[in-house]
Amino acid sequence: MVNVCCIGAGYVGGPSSAVIAYKCHDVNVTIVDLNQARIDAWNSDELPIYEPGLDEVVFARRGKNLFFSTNVDQAIIDADIIFVSVNTPTKKTGMGAGMAADLAYIETATRRIAQVATSSKIVIEKSTVPCRTAQSMRTILEANSSKNIRFDILSNPEFLAEGTAIKDLTNPDRVLIGCLQTPEGFAAQQKLVDIYTRWIPQERVITMNLWSSELSKLAANALLAQRISSINALSAICEATGADVDEVAYACGTDSRIGPKFLKASVGFGGSCFQKDILNLVYLSEQLFLPEVAAYWKSVVTMNEYQKMRFTHRIVRTLFNTVTHKRIALLGFAFKKDTGDTRESAAITLCSYLIQERANVAVYDPKVSAKQMKMDLTEPGVGTNEAEVEKHIQVCSSAYEACAGADALVICTEWDEFKMEHLDYKKIYESMHKPAFIFDGRLILDGPKLREIGFRVETIGKSV
Ligand code: NAD
Ligand code: UDX
Repeated sequence: MVNVCCIGAGYVGGPSSAVIAYKCHDVNVTIVDLNQARIDAWNSDELPIYEPGLDEVVFARRGKNLFFSTNVDQAIIDADIIFVSVNTPTKKTGMGAGMAADLAYIETATRRIAQVATSSKIVIEKSTVPCRTAQSMRTILEANSSKNIRFDILSNPEFLAEGTAIKDLTNPDRVLIGCLQTPEGFAAQQKLVDIYTRWIPQERVITMNLWSSELSKLAANALLAQRISSINALSAICEATGADVDEVAYACGTDSRIGPKFLKASVGFGGSCFQKDILNLVYLSEQLFLPEVAAYWKSVVTMNEYQKMRFTHRIVRTLFNTVTHKRIALLGFAFKKDTGDTRESAAITLCSYLIQERANVAVYDPKVSAKQMKMDLTEPGVGTNEAEVEKHIQVCSSAYEACAGADALVICTEWDEFKMEHLDYKKIYESMHKPAFIFDGRLILDGPKLREIGFRVETIGKSV
Protein backbone atom coordinates (compact mmCIF):
# COMPACT_ATOMS: atom_id res chain seq x y z
CA MET A 1 0.00 0.00 0.00
CA VAL A 2 1.14 3.54 -0.75
CA ASN A 3 0.36 5.92 2.10
CA VAL A 4 -0.81 9.37 1.11
CA CYS A 5 -1.36 12.21 3.54
CA CYS A 6 -3.08 15.45 2.65
CA ILE A 7 -2.53 18.42 4.94
CA GLY A 8 -5.57 20.69 4.72
CA ALA A 9 -9.13 19.30 4.57
CA GLY A 10 -10.63 22.21 2.66
CA TYR A 11 -12.33 22.67 -0.71
CA VAL A 12 -9.25 21.33 -2.48
CA GLY A 13 -7.63 18.88 -0.05
CA GLY A 14 -10.89 17.10 0.81
CA PRO A 15 -12.28 16.36 -2.67
CA SER A 16 -8.94 15.91 -4.48
CA SER A 17 -7.57 13.39 -2.00
CA ALA A 18 -10.93 11.64 -1.59
CA VAL A 19 -10.95 11.03 -5.35
CA ILE A 20 -7.49 9.42 -5.15
CA ALA A 21 -8.87 7.03 -2.50
CA TYR A 22 -11.96 6.40 -4.66
CA LYS A 23 -9.94 5.61 -7.76
CA CYS A 24 -7.05 3.70 -6.13
CA HIS A 25 -8.24 1.25 -3.49
CA ASP A 26 -4.67 0.20 -2.74
CA VAL A 27 -3.67 3.74 -1.77
CA ASN A 28 -4.30 4.68 1.85
CA VAL A 29 -5.35 8.31 2.07
CA THR A 30 -5.41 10.28 5.33
CA ILE A 31 -6.64 13.85 5.18
CA VAL A 32 -5.61 15.94 8.18
CA ASP A 33 -6.47 19.39 9.44
CA LEU A 34 -5.95 21.43 12.59
CA ASN A 35 -9.61 22.40 12.54
CA GLN A 36 -11.39 19.81 14.71
CA ALA A 37 -14.89 20.90 13.66
CA ARG A 38 -14.02 20.50 10.00
CA ILE A 39 -12.60 17.01 10.55
CA ASP A 40 -15.65 16.04 12.65
CA ALA A 41 -17.87 17.14 9.78
CA TRP A 42 -15.83 15.09 7.28
CA ASN A 43 -16.40 12.10 9.58
CA SER A 44 -20.14 12.76 9.87
CA ASP A 45 -23.15 12.31 7.57
CA GLU A 46 -23.10 16.01 6.70
CA LEU A 47 -19.83 16.85 4.97
CA PRO A 48 -18.43 20.37 5.52
CA ILE A 49 -18.52 21.17 1.81
CA TYR A 50 -21.39 20.98 -0.63
CA GLU A 51 -20.25 19.55 -3.96
CA PRO A 52 -22.38 17.46 -6.32
CA GLY A 53 -21.15 13.83 -6.18
CA LEU A 54 -18.83 14.34 -3.18
CA ASP A 55 -20.97 12.39 -0.70
CA GLU A 56 -20.90 9.32 -2.91
CA VAL A 57 -17.09 9.40 -3.21
CA VAL A 58 -16.48 9.95 0.50
CA PHE A 59 -19.12 7.52 1.80
CA ALA A 60 -17.84 4.79 -0.54
CA ARG A 61 -14.27 4.87 0.80
CA ARG A 62 -14.35 6.42 4.29
CA GLY A 63 -13.08 3.99 6.91
CA LYS A 64 -11.66 1.70 4.18
CA ASN A 65 -8.77 3.57 2.55
CA LEU A 66 -9.92 7.12 3.29
CA PHE A 67 -9.50 8.67 6.74
CA PHE A 68 -10.00 12.13 8.22
CA SER A 69 -8.04 13.08 11.30
CA THR A 70 -6.54 15.89 13.35
CA ASN A 71 -3.48 13.79 14.13
CA VAL A 72 -1.25 15.63 11.67
CA ASP A 73 2.03 14.25 13.03
CA GLN A 74 1.03 10.59 12.79
CA ALA A 75 -0.24 11.04 9.24
CA ILE A 76 3.07 12.69 8.26
CA ILE A 77 5.09 9.88 9.87
CA ASP A 78 3.08 7.19 8.06
CA ALA A 79 3.05 8.86 4.64
CA ASP A 80 5.15 8.19 1.55
CA ILE A 81 3.55 11.08 -0.29
CA ILE A 82 2.30 14.31 1.34
CA PHE A 83 0.04 16.82 -0.38
CA VAL A 84 0.14 20.30 1.10
CA SER A 85 -3.34 21.74 0.44
CA VAL A 86 -3.49 24.49 3.01
CA ASN A 87 -4.98 27.92 2.39
CA THR A 88 -2.88 30.69 0.83
CA PRO A 89 -5.08 33.77 1.27
CA THR A 90 -4.15 37.32 0.34
CA LYS A 91 -2.07 38.94 3.10
CA LYS A 92 -4.08 41.38 5.19
CA THR A 93 -1.21 43.19 6.89
CA GLY A 94 2.52 43.75 6.54
CA MET A 95 4.66 43.62 3.42
CA GLY A 96 2.53 43.09 0.30
CA ALA A 97 -0.73 43.50 2.25
CA GLY A 98 -3.77 43.27 -0.02
CA MET A 99 -1.78 41.59 -2.80
CA ALA A 100 0.81 39.00 -1.83
CA ALA A 101 -0.16 35.46 -0.85
CA ASP A 102 0.11 34.70 2.85
CA LEU A 103 2.50 31.77 2.92
CA ALA A 104 2.41 31.31 6.70
CA TYR A 105 0.22 28.18 6.49
CA ILE A 106 2.48 26.63 3.86
CA GLU A 107 5.54 27.32 5.99
CA THR A 108 3.95 25.93 9.18
CA ALA A 109 2.92 22.74 7.39
CA THR A 110 6.36 22.39 5.79
CA ARG A 111 8.16 22.89 9.10
CA ARG A 112 5.88 20.30 10.69
CA ILE A 113 6.83 17.78 8.01
CA ALA A 114 10.53 18.50 8.55
CA GLN A 115 10.16 18.19 12.30
CA VAL A 116 8.27 14.91 12.59
CA ALA A 117 9.22 12.89 9.47
CA THR A 118 11.22 9.77 10.24
CA SER A 119 11.50 8.53 6.64
CA SER A 120 11.88 9.97 3.14
CA LYS A 121 8.84 11.71 1.62
CA ILE A 122 7.60 13.15 -1.60
CA VAL A 123 6.14 16.53 -0.64
CA ILE A 124 3.65 17.96 -3.10
CA GLU A 125 2.71 21.59 -3.37
CA LYS A 126 -1.01 21.39 -4.10
CA SER A 127 -1.93 24.87 -2.84
CA THR A 128 -1.70 27.77 -5.27
CA VAL A 129 1.54 29.58 -4.52
CA PRO A 130 3.80 32.24 -6.00
CA CYS A 131 6.49 31.09 -8.38
CA ARG A 132 9.51 29.58 -6.56
CA THR A 133 7.71 28.69 -3.34
CA ALA A 134 8.93 25.12 -3.84
CA GLN A 135 12.45 26.44 -3.40
CA SER A 136 11.57 27.86 0.04
CA MET A 137 9.89 24.59 1.02
CA ARG A 138 12.96 22.67 -0.06
CA THR A 139 15.28 24.91 1.93
CA ILE A 140 13.17 24.50 5.08
CA LEU A 141 12.91 20.74 4.66
CA GLU A 142 16.59 20.23 3.95
CA ALA A 143 17.72 22.49 6.78
CA ASN A 144 15.64 20.60 9.31
CA SER A 145 15.83 17.03 8.15
CA SER A 146 18.08 14.36 9.56
CA LYS A 147 20.76 12.50 7.62
CA ASN A 148 19.03 9.52 6.07
CA ILE A 149 15.85 11.29 5.07
CA ARG A 150 15.25 12.76 1.62
CA PHE A 151 12.53 15.11 0.59
CA ASP A 152 11.55 15.49 -3.04
CA ILE A 153 9.30 18.40 -3.85
CA LEU A 154 6.74 18.38 -6.64
CA SER A 155 4.32 21.03 -7.81
CA ASN A 156 0.88 19.66 -8.62
CA PRO A 157 -1.51 22.62 -8.74
CA GLU A 158 -5.23 21.96 -8.63
CA PHE A 159 -7.53 23.15 -11.41
CA LEU A 160 -10.89 22.01 -10.03
CA ALA A 161 -13.70 24.54 -10.00
CA GLU A 162 -16.18 24.54 -7.15
CA GLY A 163 -19.57 23.09 -7.98
CA THR A 164 -17.98 20.74 -10.52
CA ALA A 165 -15.07 19.48 -8.38
CA ILE A 166 -15.82 15.77 -8.67
CA LYS A 167 -16.35 15.96 -12.42
CA ASP A 168 -13.15 18.01 -12.79
CA LEU A 169 -11.16 15.58 -10.63
CA THR A 170 -12.40 12.40 -12.25
CA ASN A 171 -12.15 13.75 -15.79
CA PRO A 172 -9.70 16.66 -15.81
CA ASP A 173 -8.56 18.52 -18.93
CA ARG A 174 -5.05 17.99 -17.62
CA VAL A 175 -3.02 17.31 -14.51
CA LEU A 176 0.23 19.24 -14.10
CA ILE A 177 3.23 17.82 -12.31
CA GLY A 178 6.36 19.92 -12.01
CA CYS A 179 9.66 18.63 -10.65
CA LEU A 180 13.29 19.58 -10.32
CA GLN A 181 15.04 18.43 -13.47
CA THR A 182 17.24 15.90 -11.65
CA PRO A 183 17.14 12.07 -11.66
CA GLU A 184 15.61 12.13 -8.14
CA GLY A 185 13.10 14.76 -9.22
CA PHE A 186 12.04 12.71 -12.25
CA ALA A 187 11.73 9.57 -10.12
CA ALA A 188 9.43 11.36 -7.67
CA GLN A 189 7.42 12.82 -10.53
CA GLN A 190 6.94 9.35 -12.00
CA LYS A 191 5.48 8.06 -8.70
CA LEU A 192 2.77 10.71 -8.86
CA VAL A 193 2.22 10.14 -12.59
CA ASP A 194 1.66 6.45 -11.74
CA ILE A 195 -1.14 7.37 -9.34
CA TYR A 196 -2.97 9.77 -11.69
CA THR A 197 -2.71 7.53 -14.74
CA ARG A 198 -4.77 4.93 -12.90
CA TRP A 199 -7.83 6.89 -14.12
CA ILE A 200 -6.56 9.73 -16.29
CA PRO A 201 -5.21 9.14 -19.81
CA GLN A 202 -1.42 9.46 -19.91
CA GLU A 203 -1.49 12.29 -22.46
CA ARG A 204 -3.45 14.47 -20.05
CA VAL A 205 -0.84 14.15 -17.31
CA ILE A 206 1.61 16.88 -18.22
CA THR A 207 5.09 17.01 -16.74
CA MET A 208 7.33 20.06 -16.67
CA ASN A 209 9.76 21.95 -14.48
CA LEU A 210 8.73 23.17 -11.03
CA TRP A 211 8.64 26.87 -11.82
CA SER A 212 6.59 26.47 -14.99
CA SER A 213 4.10 24.39 -13.09
CA GLU A 214 3.78 26.93 -10.27
CA LEU A 215 3.39 29.83 -12.69
CA SER A 216 0.96 27.94 -14.94
CA LYS A 217 -1.58 27.80 -12.13
CA LEU A 218 -1.52 31.57 -11.59
CA ALA A 219 -1.49 32.11 -15.34
CA ALA A 220 -4.51 29.88 -15.99
CA ASN A 221 -6.60 31.66 -13.36
CA ALA A 222 -5.49 35.07 -14.61
CA LEU A 223 -6.42 34.19 -18.20
CA LEU A 224 -9.83 32.84 -17.16
CA ALA A 225 -10.61 35.90 -15.06
CA GLN A 226 -9.37 38.16 -17.85
CA ARG A 227 -11.97 36.68 -20.20
CA ILE A 228 -14.73 37.44 -17.71
CA SER A 229 -13.50 41.01 -17.20
CA SER A 230 -13.29 41.42 -20.97
CA ILE A 231 -16.87 40.33 -21.54
CA ASN A 232 -18.01 42.40 -18.56
CA ALA A 233 -16.28 45.47 -20.02
CA LEU A 234 -18.13 44.77 -23.26
CA SER A 235 -21.40 44.41 -21.32
CA ALA A 236 -21.13 48.09 -20.33
CA ILE A 237 -20.78 49.04 -24.01
CA CYS A 238 -23.78 46.81 -24.84
CA GLU A 239 -25.98 48.54 -22.27
CA ALA A 240 -25.06 51.92 -23.72
CA THR A 241 -25.51 51.00 -27.36
CA GLY A 242 -28.36 48.52 -27.64
CA ALA A 243 -26.08 45.58 -28.44
CA ASP A 244 -26.82 42.36 -26.57
CA VAL A 245 -23.87 40.88 -24.67
CA ASP A 246 -25.09 37.28 -25.08
CA GLU A 247 -25.18 37.78 -28.85
CA VAL A 248 -21.76 39.42 -28.86
CA ALA A 249 -20.32 36.57 -26.73
CA TYR A 250 -21.86 34.03 -29.09
CA ALA A 251 -20.54 35.80 -32.17
CA CYS A 252 -17.03 35.98 -30.71
CA GLY A 253 -17.08 32.55 -29.10
CA THR A 254 -17.87 30.74 -32.34
CA ASP A 255 -14.44 31.81 -33.60
CA SER A 256 -12.49 28.66 -32.80
CA ARG A 257 -9.49 30.79 -31.82
CA ILE A 258 -11.56 32.45 -29.08
CA GLY A 259 -13.87 29.60 -28.02
CA PRO A 260 -17.24 29.88 -26.24
CA LYS A 261 -16.38 29.20 -22.59
CA PHE A 262 -15.99 31.77 -19.82
CA LEU A 263 -17.67 34.51 -21.82
CA LYS A 264 -20.79 34.80 -19.69
CA ALA A 265 -21.23 38.38 -18.55
CA SER A 266 -22.14 38.65 -14.90
CA VAL A 267 -22.41 40.84 -11.85
CA GLY A 268 -18.69 40.12 -11.41
CA PHE A 269 -16.56 37.07 -10.71
CA GLY A 270 -16.15 35.86 -7.14
CA GLY A 271 -14.62 32.84 -5.45
CA SER A 272 -11.53 32.35 -3.38
CA CYS A 273 -9.15 32.07 -6.32
CA PHE A 274 -9.42 34.56 -9.18
CA GLN A 275 -8.88 37.81 -7.33
CA LYS A 276 -6.34 36.34 -4.94
CA ASP A 277 -4.29 34.72 -7.68
CA ILE A 278 -4.29 37.75 -9.96
CA LEU A 279 -3.20 39.98 -7.09
CA ASN A 280 -0.51 37.45 -6.38
CA LEU A 281 0.64 37.75 -9.99
CA VAL A 282 0.52 41.55 -9.73
CA TYR A 283 2.72 41.42 -6.63
CA LEU A 284 5.12 39.00 -8.30
CA SER A 285 5.39 41.34 -11.31
CA GLU A 286 6.06 44.31 -9.06
CA GLN A 287 8.74 42.39 -7.20
CA LEU A 288 10.34 41.55 -10.53
CA PHE A 289 10.36 45.27 -11.49
CA LEU A 290 7.75 44.79 -14.19
CA PRO A 291 5.31 47.63 -13.43
CA GLU A 292 3.58 47.55 -16.85
CA VAL A 293 2.92 43.83 -16.46
CA ALA A 294 1.60 44.41 -12.94
CA ALA A 295 -0.73 47.19 -14.15
CA TYR A 296 -2.02 44.99 -16.98
CA TRP A 297 -3.13 42.19 -14.66
CA LYS A 298 -4.37 44.60 -11.99
CA SER A 299 -6.86 45.99 -14.51
CA VAL A 300 -8.66 42.63 -14.56
CA VAL A 301 -9.51 43.07 -10.88
CA THR A 302 -10.28 46.77 -11.31
CA MET A 303 -12.80 45.93 -14.04
CA ASN A 304 -14.40 43.34 -11.77
CA GLU A 305 -14.84 45.88 -8.97
CA TYR A 306 -16.28 48.33 -11.50
CA GLN A 307 -18.76 45.72 -12.74
CA LYS A 308 -20.05 44.99 -9.22
CA MET A 309 -20.49 48.70 -8.47
CA ARG A 310 -21.97 49.43 -11.88
CA PHE A 311 -24.69 46.84 -11.31
CA THR A 312 -25.38 48.08 -7.80
CA HIS A 313 -25.65 51.70 -8.96
CA ARG A 314 -28.00 50.60 -11.73
CA ILE A 315 -30.32 49.10 -9.11
CA VAL A 316 -30.41 52.30 -7.05
CA ARG A 317 -30.76 54.56 -10.09
CA THR A 318 -33.59 52.50 -11.55
CA LEU A 319 -35.47 52.45 -8.24
CA PHE A 320 -35.91 56.22 -8.59
CA ASN A 321 -32.54 56.98 -6.98
CA THR A 322 -33.48 55.73 -3.56
CA VAL A 323 -33.77 52.31 -1.97
CA THR A 324 -34.22 53.58 1.58
CA HIS A 325 -36.72 51.31 3.40
CA LYS A 326 -37.43 49.43 0.18
CA ARG A 327 -37.45 45.66 0.30
CA ILE A 328 -34.97 44.15 -2.14
CA ALA A 329 -35.09 40.39 -2.68
CA LEU A 330 -31.62 39.04 -3.36
CA LEU A 331 -31.63 35.58 -4.89
CA GLY A 332 -28.33 33.81 -4.42
CA PHE A 333 -25.48 34.55 -2.05
CA ALA A 334 -22.89 31.91 -3.12
CA PHE A 335 -20.23 33.07 -5.61
CA LYS A 336 -21.61 30.66 -8.22
CA LYS A 337 -24.22 27.92 -8.41
CA ASP A 338 -23.82 24.44 -6.92
CA THR A 339 -21.63 25.54 -4.05
CA GLY A 340 -22.23 26.92 -0.58
CA ASP A 341 -18.98 28.89 -0.78
CA THR A 342 -19.35 32.65 -0.46
CA ARG A 343 -15.72 33.78 -0.57
CA GLU A 344 -15.45 37.04 -2.57
CA SER A 345 -19.05 36.61 -3.73
CA ALA A 346 -20.45 39.63 -5.59
CA ALA A 347 -23.50 39.28 -3.30
CA ILE A 348 -21.41 40.54 -0.36
CA THR A 349 -20.53 43.81 -2.14
CA LEU A 350 -24.11 44.20 -3.32
CA CYS A 351 -25.70 43.55 0.07
CA SER A 352 -23.34 45.81 1.97
CA TYR A 353 -23.93 48.65 -0.49
CA LEU A 354 -27.70 48.22 -0.29
CA ILE A 355 -27.52 48.20 3.52
CA GLN A 356 -25.52 51.42 3.43
CA GLU A 357 -28.32 52.85 1.28
CA ARG A 358 -30.74 51.75 4.06
CA ALA A 359 -32.58 49.16 2.00
CA ASN A 360 -34.11 46.10 3.64
CA VAL A 361 -32.54 43.12 1.92
CA ALA A 362 -34.32 39.76 1.92
CA VAL A 363 -31.80 37.11 0.92
CA TYR A 364 -32.35 33.55 -0.14
CA ASP A 365 -29.70 31.02 -1.14
CA PRO A 366 -30.33 27.27 -1.26
CA LYS A 367 -26.95 26.38 0.26
CA VAL A 368 -25.68 29.31 2.31
CA SER A 369 -26.65 29.54 5.98
CA ALA A 370 -27.85 32.73 7.67
CA LYS A 371 -24.84 32.51 9.97
CA GLN A 372 -22.44 32.48 7.03
CA MET A 373 -24.15 35.45 5.35
CA LYS A 374 -24.00 37.50 8.54
CA MET A 375 -20.37 36.55 9.10
CA ASP A 376 -19.47 37.66 5.57
CA LEU A 377 -21.28 40.96 5.91
CA THR A 378 -19.59 41.86 9.19
CA GLU A 379 -16.05 40.96 8.07
CA PRO A 380 -13.60 43.87 8.52
CA GLY A 381 -13.42 45.91 5.33
CA VAL A 382 -16.89 45.02 4.07
CA GLY A 383 -18.36 48.24 5.41
CA THR A 384 -21.33 47.05 7.46
CA ASN A 385 -21.53 46.31 11.17
CA GLU A 386 -23.51 43.76 13.17
CA ALA A 387 -26.30 46.15 14.17
CA GLU A 388 -26.83 47.26 10.56
CA VAL A 389 -26.85 43.68 9.33
CA GLU A 390 -29.36 42.62 12.01
CA LYS A 391 -31.59 45.55 11.10
CA HIS A 392 -31.41 45.39 7.31
CA ILE A 393 -30.90 41.74 6.39
CA GLN A 394 -33.64 39.14 6.51
CA VAL A 395 -32.56 35.64 5.58
CA CYS A 396 -35.42 33.74 3.93
CA SER A 397 -36.05 30.06 3.39
CA SER A 398 -37.42 30.35 -0.14
CA ALA A 399 -37.33 32.66 -3.15
CA TYR A 400 -41.08 33.26 -2.73
CA GLU A 401 -40.64 34.37 0.86
CA ALA A 402 -37.83 36.76 -0.12
CA CYS A 403 -39.84 38.30 -2.96
CA ALA A 404 -43.13 38.81 -1.08
CA GLY A 405 -43.65 42.55 -0.65
CA ALA A 406 -40.39 43.41 -2.43
CA ASP A 407 -39.89 46.37 -4.75
CA ALA A 408 -37.17 44.60 -6.66
CA LEU A 409 -35.75 41.14 -7.19
CA VAL A 410 -32.03 40.79 -7.90
CA ILE A 411 -30.49 37.62 -9.31
CA CYS A 412 -27.00 37.34 -7.90
CA THR A 413 -26.20 33.63 -8.31
CA GLU A 414 -27.22 31.52 -11.30
CA TRP A 415 -28.80 28.64 -9.31
CA ASP A 416 -30.94 26.47 -11.60
CA GLU A 417 -33.88 26.80 -9.23
CA PHE A 418 -34.11 30.54 -10.07
CA LYS A 419 -34.62 29.86 -13.77
CA MET A 420 -38.01 30.49 -15.40
CA GLU A 421 -38.86 26.79 -15.66
CA HIS A 422 -38.46 26.30 -11.89
CA LEU A 423 -39.84 29.47 -10.30
CA ASP A 424 -43.37 30.77 -10.82
CA TYR A 425 -42.57 34.37 -11.76
CA LYS A 426 -46.26 35.21 -12.19
CA LYS A 427 -46.85 34.29 -8.56
CA ILE A 428 -43.77 36.31 -7.56
CA TYR A 429 -45.00 39.32 -9.57
CA GLU A 430 -48.34 39.23 -7.82
CA SER A 431 -46.68 39.21 -4.40
CA MET A 432 -44.43 42.23 -5.10
CA HIS A 433 -44.90 45.99 -4.82
CA LYS A 434 -45.59 47.70 -8.11
CA PRO A 435 -43.87 48.67 -10.26
CA ALA A 436 -42.03 45.37 -9.76
CA PHE A 437 -38.41 45.37 -10.92
CA ILE A 438 -36.12 42.48 -11.79
CA PHE A 439 -32.36 42.89 -12.07
CA ASP A 440 -30.79 39.88 -13.71
CA GLY A 441 -27.10 39.87 -12.82
CA ARG A 442 -26.57 36.44 -14.36
CA LEU A 443 -28.46 36.52 -17.65
CA ILE A 444 -30.55 33.48 -16.73
CA LEU A 445 -34.04 34.93 -17.21
CA ASP A 446 -36.19 35.55 -20.25
CA GLY A 447 -36.64 39.35 -20.34
CA PRO A 448 -39.49 39.50 -22.89
CA LYS A 449 -41.54 36.87 -20.99
CA LEU A 450 -41.04 38.71 -17.71
CA ARG A 451 -42.13 41.96 -19.36
CA GLU A 452 -45.30 40.23 -20.55
CA ILE A 453 -46.03 39.33 -16.91
CA GLY A 454 -45.62 42.99 -16.02
CA PHE A 455 -42.08 43.22 -14.62
CA ARG A 456 -39.67 46.03 -15.43
CA VAL A 457 -36.53 44.12 -16.38
CA GLU A 458 -32.91 45.25 -16.18
CA THR A 459 -30.29 42.80 -17.39
CA ILE A 460 -26.50 42.94 -17.41
CA GLY A 461 -25.29 43.68 -20.92
CA LYS A 462 -28.68 44.50 -22.41
CA SER A 463 -30.28 47.88 -22.80
CA VAL A 464 -33.83 48.45 -21.61
P1 NAD B 1 -9.58 26.03 2.63
O1 NAD B 1 -9.43 27.23 3.45
O2 NAD B 1 -10.94 25.52 2.29
O3 NAD B 1 -8.79 24.80 3.30
C1 NAD B 1 -7.51 24.88 3.81
C2 NAD B 1 -7.45 24.05 5.09
O4 NAD B 1 -6.09 23.96 5.51
C3 NAD B 1 -8.22 24.65 6.26
O5 NAD B 1 -9.22 23.74 6.69
C4 NAD B 1 -7.16 24.89 7.33
O6 NAD B 1 -7.61 24.63 8.65
C5 NAD B 1 -6.09 23.89 6.94
N1 NAD B 1 -4.75 24.19 7.44
C6 NAD B 1 -4.08 25.37 7.38
N2 NAD B 1 -2.86 25.24 7.92
C7 NAD B 1 -2.75 23.96 8.33
C8 NAD B 1 -1.71 23.21 8.95
N3 NAD B 1 -0.53 23.75 9.23
N4 NAD B 1 -1.94 21.91 9.25
C9 NAD B 1 -3.13 21.33 8.94
N5 NAD B 1 -4.14 21.98 8.35
C10 NAD B 1 -3.94 23.28 8.04
O7 NAD B 1 -8.76 26.33 1.29
P2 NAD B 1 -9.01 25.69 -0.17
O8 NAD B 1 -10.10 26.42 -0.87
O9 NAD B 1 -9.07 24.21 -0.05
O10 NAD B 1 -7.66 26.11 -0.89
C11 NAD B 1 -6.45 25.48 -0.59
C12 NAD B 1 -5.43 25.88 -1.64
O11 NAD B 1 -5.84 25.40 -2.92
C13 NAD B 1 -5.24 27.39 -1.79
O12 NAD B 1 -3.90 27.65 -2.09
C14 NAD B 1 -6.10 27.72 -3.01
O13 NAD B 1 -5.65 28.85 -3.69
C15 NAD B 1 -5.93 26.49 -3.86
N6 NAD B 1 -7.05 26.20 -4.78
C16 NAD B 1 -8.34 26.37 -4.38
C17 NAD B 1 -9.38 26.06 -5.24
C18 NAD B 1 -10.81 26.21 -4.83
O14 NAD B 1 -11.67 26.09 -5.68
N7 NAD B 1 -11.13 26.47 -3.58
C19 NAD B 1 -9.09 25.55 -6.52
C20 NAD B 1 -7.76 25.38 -6.89
C21 NAD B 1 -6.74 25.71 -6.01
C1 UDX C 1 -11.64 28.83 -10.59
C2 UDX C 1 -11.04 28.13 -11.81
O1 UDX C 1 -12.06 27.94 -12.79
C3 UDX C 1 -10.45 26.79 -11.39
O2 UDX C 1 -9.83 26.17 -12.50
C4 UDX C 1 -9.44 27.03 -10.29
O3 UDX C 1 -8.90 25.80 -9.86
C5 UDX C 1 -10.08 27.75 -9.12
O4 UDX C 1 -10.66 28.98 -9.59
P1 UDX C 1 -13.89 28.61 -9.22
O5 UDX C 1 -13.51 29.92 -8.66
O6 UDX C 1 -14.26 27.51 -8.29
O7 UDX C 1 -12.72 28.04 -10.14
O8 UDX C 1 -15.14 28.80 -10.21
P2 UDX C 1 -15.30 29.35 -11.72
O9 UDX C 1 -16.23 28.46 -12.41
O10 UDX C 1 -14.01 29.58 -12.38
O11 UDX C 1 -16.03 30.74 -11.49
C6 UDX C 1 -15.39 31.83 -10.85
C7 UDX C 1 -16.30 33.04 -10.89
O12 UDX C 1 -16.44 33.54 -12.22
C8 UDX C 1 -17.72 32.76 -10.40
O13 UDX C 1 -18.19 33.84 -9.64
C9 UDX C 1 -18.50 32.63 -11.70
O14 UDX C 1 -19.86 32.91 -11.54
C10 UDX C 1 -17.80 33.67 -12.56
N1 UDX C 1 -17.95 33.44 -14.01
C11 UDX C 1 -17.47 32.30 -14.56
C12 UDX C 1 -18.53 34.41 -14.80
O15 UDX C 1 -18.96 35.46 -14.30
N2 UDX C 1 -18.63 34.20 -16.14
C13 UDX C 1 -18.16 33.07 -16.74
O16 UDX C 1 -18.28 32.97 -17.97
C14 UDX C 1 -17.57 32.09 -15.93
